[in-house]
Amino acid sequence: MGCTVLTGELTLGNFTYSNPTKLYFGSDSLEGLRKELPRYGKNVLLVYGGGSIKKTGVYDAVTGILKESGKTVTELSGVMPNPTLEKLYEGAALAKNSHADFILAVGGGSVCDYAKAVSVSAHCTEDPWEKYFINMKPVDNAIIPVGTVLTMVGTGSEMNGGSVITNRKTMRKIGRVFGEDVFPKFSILNPEFTYTVPQYQMTAGFFDIMSHILEQYFSGDDDNTSDYIMEGLLRSLIHSSRIAVKDPKNYEARSNIMWIATWALNTLVAKGKSTDWMVHMIGQSVGAFTDATHGMTLSAVSLSYYRHIMPNALHKFVRYAEAVWNVNPAGKSDAEIAEAGLAEMKKWMEEMRLVLSIKELGVTEDMLEGIADGTFILKGGYKILTYDEIVQILKESM
Ligand code: NZQ
Ligand code: ZN
Repeated sequence: MGCTVLTGELTLGNFTYSNPTKLYFGSDSLEGLRKELPRYGKNVLLVYGGGSIKKTGVYDAVTGILKESGKTVTELSGVMPNPTLEKLYEGAALAKNSHADFILAVGGGSVCDYAKAVSVSAHCTEDPWEKYFINMKPVDNAIIPVGTVLTMVGTGSEMNGGSVITNRKTMRKIGRVFGEDVFPKFSILNPEFTYTVPQYQMTAGFFDIMSHILEQYFSGDDDNTSDYIMEGLLRSLIHSSRIAVKDPKNYEARSNIMWIATWALNTLVAKGKSTDWMVHMIGQSVGAFTDATHGMTLSAVSLSYYRHIMPNALHKFVRYAEAVWNVNPAGKSDAEIAEAGLAEMKKWMEEMRLVLSIKELGVTEDMLEGIADGTFILKGGYKILTYDEIVQILKESM
């Protein structure tokens, strides 16, 4: 058995920073759509999910603006959570045949990710799965510009080049990080659009945010400004999440969380440091086997993972415990401080009612080797895992 080992790109030292996505944030941010649409061609492919936007009124508001802007709209609906390759083929063909000049994604991370995948696949003459997700080749065909109206918070897809597609036949869920030319041209972030997200999805999103931050925090030993920014983001997330679970329509809390999610994964905090991403690699493989909610696949494996790597980075776990979870170090050894930090994290996870066992997501013993086999091993963290260690972490996550 062997997992695929990818050479993690370490961005230590010098870097270039640029993010081309323009954000419109706030309760009247949909007005930004009206401003942006004239910049793009007449044919718009409107991409959305299973219908939540029709229930919430976002669909009516968006299609009203599209109509007033004189656009010819083709609808592409039914994008599922964890969008599939079959759905990508369908969307790429529709984008091409409808001569789409612009793709407007209205939904959560799945819809945004999917729109980016369609944008690079519509004019691709090869199989986009092989070219862009297996072989990670650069995009050399025409790219249809994408804009997003975000309705669910967590992935950061609104301001990054990420696109995660699941091939159900081969049981592989693969994330591709495209370059700036694939980032959304603009994103509309209205915290009120997130009020209707069901509690399970909402808190899964909270953990997705936390995991994005932690997987960039737990790597690298240098005294790095990014680590201080991430501690602030984590503290704000913990504070606001506690308010939002009790009062989902608390604008301040929901807007803070929306903003944290964007900064957690819009490439800024990764600059000038190495990053880990192994929780995502394991979680994605769990997702490929179970189709479970993304954030819950991460919560279910995180505690076992962090306990596993803790001896390799005790100093950072001590810092995490004190700076993020306010653990009082007095009278404790480093190992005790670090453990107390993880215990606080677990308490918060229970408060959020996050899933803490992959069994609860549908994983059975006979899947463990396959999940480990489908886990891509990256090299940027404190410990480079082996296949056997991944199996062990999965067993501990049952
Ligand atoms: O499909 P609809 O009917 O819209 O319902 C969705 C879906 O069932 C519902 N929902 C969204 N907004 C709602 C709402 N329900 C009521 N009211 C609203 N306002 O929520 C459900 C989940 O939506 P989904 O888009 O799947 O969630 P999420 O935003 O967590 O996206 C998950 C996908 O993003 C990928 C994941 O792997 C997964 O495929 N990721 C993308 C990343 C990136 N681009 O950088 C990074 C992440 O780590 C992640 O891997
Ligand atoms: Zn994620």
